[in-house]
Amino acid sequence: MLRKMFVGLGITLAIVLMGAWLFWPKNFVAKGPFWDFLTGAQVEAPTKDMLESRFTLPEGFRIGVFAADVPHARMMRVTSEGDILVSSMREGNVILLHADKNNDGMADGRTVLMSGLDIPHGLALKSGYLYVAETGRIVRARFDAKARAVGDVELVLDGIPPGGNHRTRTIGFGPDGMLYLTVGSTCNVCIEDHAYRAAMVRMKPDGSGARIFARGLRNTVGFDWQPGTGHLYGTDNGRDLLGDDTPHCELNLIEEGAFYGWPYAYDAKVPDPDYGAGHEAEIASSKPLVHGFGAHRAPLGIRFLTPGLEPLGYEGAALVALHGSWNRSTLAGYKVVSLHFGANGTVEQKDFLAGFEKDGDVIGRPVDMVQGPDGAIYVSDDYAGAIYRISWGDMVASKETALNDERPHPLADVTDAEVQVMTMAGSVLFAANGCAACHDPASAADGVQVKELKALAQRYDIEGITGLLEVPPGPMPQYDLTAEEKRALAIYLLAKD
Ligand code: HEC
Repeated sequence: MLRKMFVGLGITLAIVLMGAWLFWPKNFVAKGPFWDFLTGAQVEAPTKDMLESRFTLPEGFRIGVFAADVPHARMMRVTSEGDILVSSMREGNVILLHADKNNDGMADGRTVLMSGLDIPHGLALKSGYLYVAETGRIVRARFDAKARAVGDVELVLDGIPPGGNHRTRTIGFGPDGMLYLTVGSTCNVCIEDHAYRAAMVRMKPDGSGARIFARGLRNTVGFDWQPGTGHLYGTDNGRDLLGDDTPHCELNLIEEGAFYGWPYAYDAKVPDPDYGAGHEAEIASSKPLVHGFGAHRAPLGIRFLTPGLEPLGYEGAALVALHGSWNRSTLAGYKVVSLHFGANGTVEQKDFLAGFEKDGDVIGRPVDMVQGPDGAIYVSDDYAGAIYRISWGDMVASKETALNDERPHPLADVTDAEVQVMTMAGSVLFAANGCAACHDPASAADGVQVKELKALAQRYDIEGITGLLEVPPGPMPQYDLTAEEKRALAIYLLAKD
């Protein structure tokens, strides 16, 4: 009896080994914290010494640990109170890290806002709601940023295909007030059954009217809108098992109705060796990348810096987190880079925060970035379970003195008639929306910290202010204003200057 069992086991083992040998994918290299990634194992957040000896930043920037013990910290948002919302993915939580009011560089405390969620990942704030993307649905809850509390959870969108190789879902509100969602592929390369797979979906804030917005995006984990132009840029993770240097992970300019190539093509219309044949027309119609990060870099979060709050030399720049390779014989990525967009469509990439990996030793993996109301940059790390805070120079003040005031007035191209009409409309909107409560020392209520609006024309143009109203800095509330109303407020403030 026992012997029979052993023979049976032996035969099964032989079959399994033979199968593995026959079907083991070509170019299967697993290097770096790949098995930790599969099992969810974590490392400790770096100590102060480690931060100093390992991390490198451009001159003038400093880094500290803002919060440790945030397991699998993924996407982030900043609340109107300057607190940092972060999704703790495998734990099923959304955590609120309290703003640093005692200036020790660390969060003053934390609140677990939501728990029991199914792989919560993407976060968004709109009209008093906190939106969370789980792997199979989007939910929202009324969010009181001051009280640090949420109301009951409501369903926004059901029926997102859950699971698969790519289980994280990212969401964000566009300048058009619509909610955007990305869903990655189930596989490395394959033909998908569900239309939402490897696609971006757009819907109304209540989840109705969901439609495919763009396709052929293998796994676009990060996306953001460029202030001023409103262009939507997304990071896309290229396929595996084609060797160390093929294909690129992509930065795409995502447009409505466009197809970005996967699974038939990669890079700029290069046919995929497994799925390209017979799909020449689709490949020809596919949109090429606008920038390549290199293969296996795993770009996740992308965030444009807040207009008016960029460090010098970072005007108009975006930060991208390169989570780092697993399917490459030497490790690559494992850093945050900055992208600088040239007028002629060029994109220049520079290292921003490096040192997560050194000589094959990995101490963290960056995921997402946000910018606080004072300009500080927060970076999440899902391997060390940490949020870092990067400060620079004397923050916003250094920028104000360095700007040159010799450029033309931002209203130089606007006709006098429009300035007149818009100034009137803008002053009405300024009063009606209670802007003076925080911006006019004469009418501010007791206890409110007034931010006088000074020298705006030296630092902003019209797009700069409309962009700021779109993504208000920290304590400033988000207003539901039309594009025309934002323009009127911008012209009013710039003309007043
Ligand atoms: C609850 C207070 C509050 C309200 C209400 C508010 N803001 Fe602000 N706003 C702020 C604060 C605080 C800042 C400065 C943030 C920083 O620099 O960190 C700011 C910054 C600004 C700036 C940039 C100032 C600069 O020097 O760079 C502009 C422009 C602005 N607000 C316009 C508006 C307009 C227009 C409204 C009404 C539609 C408004 N704000 C309502 C608090 C508020």
